[in-house]
Amino acid sequence: MISQQAILDAFHFRHACKTFDPERKISEADFRFILETGRLSPSSFGYEPWRFLVIQDMALREKLLTVTWGAKGQFPSASHVVAILVRKDDMRPGSGYTERFMREVKHFPEEVIARSNTFYKQFHESDFKLQEPRALFDWSCRQAYIALANMMTAAAMVGIDSCPIEGFSQEGADRILAEAGLLEDGGFGLAVMAAFGYRINPQTEKTRQTLEQITRWV
Ligand SMILES: Cc1cc2nc3c(=O)[nH]c(=O)nc-3n(C[C@H](O)[C@H](O)[C@H](O)COP(=O)(O)O)c2cc1C
Repeated sequence: MISQQAILDAFHFRHACKTFDPERKISEADFRFILETGRLSPSSFGYEPWRFLVIQDMALREKLLTVTWGAKGQFPSASHVVAILVRKDDMRPGSGYTERFMREVKHFPEEVIARSNTFYKQFHESDFKLQEPRALFDWSCRQAYIALANMMTAAAMVGIDSCPIEGFSQEGADRILAEAGLLEDGGFGLAVMAAFGYRINPQTEKTRQTLEQITRWV
């Protein structure tokens, strides 16, 4: 087991890194490790709505920068940039994706598929009310953020810096990715991005509210 202190050290080490050392690249093995922690992340109903688009094409990063005010320092200097895309209509109950997923990934027997479909439909229609495209997209994005957090924490645990990037125009970024043919005809949308690399400057002081301020026990 890893000690609590080692885990907390990683949480203190992780910070929103603004500029990376452009000379230092993350090794392929290390970056696969980071992606693997995204892959193993949990998602609602286990449907893994994400796709990890690793953007190493500097021309595409530059194009995205025109609509991404939050990554001016990160995109040009990061070793790796990941855009987490999420599925849209594929996530609806009864879609070809969910049906295939239950059979081919989860290996569910037919009676489990039928039961799961009933629950999933109820969840979409009344529990979480996900019929509106925006509500559905936001729900998928919430899953993406779990993978995002796990990847950043895992990176920190092996001494790799990161920055989550939400400072972009959703419309603008989706347009650029669609023009590049990366959204599969609107089947995917951009949830959030993250840059990874090695810091070039010392990190700033970490400020947080106290545990007492943000916790209520009942
Ligand atoms: C979802 C999300 C999106 C963020 N987007 C940006 C961004 O676009 N650009 C940026 O420089 N920082 C971004 N941040 C970093 C936050 O500002 C930062 O995490 C916060 O101020 C706490 O600082 P720390 O991460 O250094 O502890 C984002 C953080 C999160 C969680």
